[in-house]
Amino acid sequence: MTASKPQVLTLGTFPDATTAELGRRFSVHHFPRIGHALDGLDAATARHIVALGSEANQGITRALLAMLPKLEVVALFGVGTDLVDRAALKERSIPLSNTPGLVAVEVADLAIGLMIASARQIIYADRYIREGRWPQAQISLGRSVGKKTMGVVGLGAIGRPIADRGAAFNMRVLYHGPRRKPDVPYEYVADLVDLARQSDFLMVAAKGGPDTRHLVGRSVIDALGPNGTLVNVARGSVVDQQALVAALRDGRLGFAALDVFENEPHVSPDLLALPNVIVQPHHGSAGLETRIAMGQLMIDNISAWLGERKLLTPVA
Ligand code: 8YV
Repeated sequence: MTASKPQVLTLGTFPDATTAELGRRFSVHHFPRIGHALDGLDAATARHIVALGSEANQGITRALLAMLPKLEVVALFGVGTDLVDRAALKERSIPLSNTPGLVAVEVADLAIGLMIASARQIIYADRYIREGRWPQAQISLGRSVGKKTMGVVGLGAIGRPIADRGAAFNMRVLYHGPRRKPDVPYEYVADLVDLARQSDFLMVAAKGGPDTRHLVGRSVIDALGPNGTLVNVARGSVVDQQALVAALRDGRLGFAALDVFENEPHVSPDLLALPNVIVQPHHGSAGLETRIAMGQLMIDNISAWLGERKLLTPVA
């Protein structure tokens, strides 16, 4: 007799290779978004779920966990744990894994892409040609990146490769974080407003969560100023979005290039109405190879826990 496969709940969107491998190893109940899971998961199925694999940006709530009485492990596809109710997991001694070491460089690449796309008007210029405006009028000039100052907010796993890429573009690179890092070739600026004042491009790469909520607020945005560009690839919660919209609209801030937002996947129409903003749908880690590797690690974490009671990449 063949043993039945473990019942696993998955939330989010995964590459085909991940979906296929999940299906080979587990009996999978898949929902593309957490809201759908809560609505569509019937109690009889939920009672048999032993593992949950989820995109990091879905949110693992107490209400969802309460539907899964036999849950033994949660494996994230992604690194951020700010949307996971860690206290609820701890109460039931349910371990949590994520996919470190895979996401950071991919996200840093998108941060640089956003910086260049904003400065050199890549998205606007594409539209200018498609709309037939090239023969009629010269496009306005963009902004140079080289020799400008890049300020990195949070020189962690993602911030560091952003900084290294900035240095490769001949930028002066400064950073801010809770503390100065040893052995870092970039200047530390203890005060975030001061960092913003010195920066042409402020790159937000801090962790999400209550400690960093609205860290980039009005005073930081005003210090970045009318020629400054805010790039956010971290979490929407790190930036006060209302203050951002007002500053962009009033000309107190020059430009913004954003991969993350408050209230995703719904992006504020006020933000979208502004010509000095470019947006992406929270896909910093969305290179196919990276996403396949993330999927494999999520699956391997689930298998390792269900088999040997150990996680390959536990969240501390
Ligand atoms: C994605 C992320 O949101 O790793 C994270 O924390 O935010 C991203 O990689 C996602 O979880 C992957 O789909």
